[in-house]
Amino acid sequence: MAILEILEYPDPRLRTKAQFVVSVDNQVRTLLDDLFETMYTAPGIGLAASQVDIHRRIIVIDISENRDEPHAFINPELEILGGEIESEEGCLSVPGFYESVTRADHVLVKALDRDGQSFELQATGMLAVCIQHECDHLEGKLFVDYLSNLKRTRIRRKLEKEHRIRA
Ligand code: NI
Repeated sequence: MAILEILEYPDPRLRTKAQFVVSVDNQVRTLLDDLFETMYTAPGIGLAASQVDIHRRIIVIDISENRDEPHAFINPELEILGGEIESEEGCLSVPGFYESVTRADHVLVKALDRDGQSFELQATGMLAVCIQHECDHLEGKLFVDYLSNLKRTRIRRKLEKEHRIRA
């Protein structure tokens, strides 16, 4: 397994629309393992392949306290079932910033698992939020896109400054 480098906002590669996975093969399973290791190490509760510059429709999530409930979704298709939930969101690609975002509280996701089998999952609350956040990444969308221009610009400038210092 490997820890992959996570792209940080405003890196334009985060805006790439991810491609559908045609076959769930060993390469995809290795990527899943690497995504989980990268997410657990960061640490974070979700990670999309887009964030490690691999533009395929693959996301991993684990919102459990004990970090022992891994969810992998390949080619996830999201259906909004309703409700509204407002929560503080962060993102491993937007390190250090947490902002309030409103999303659907109840979703249905259809996807393939690591064996290429299709499954469905209904989710509410934090898991629903996390699934929507990660699926957005596959479309090149980030949680900062839901914020005001003022807030987004402030975050972008601070991160650009940090990237200059680090470089
Ligand atoms: Ni994110």
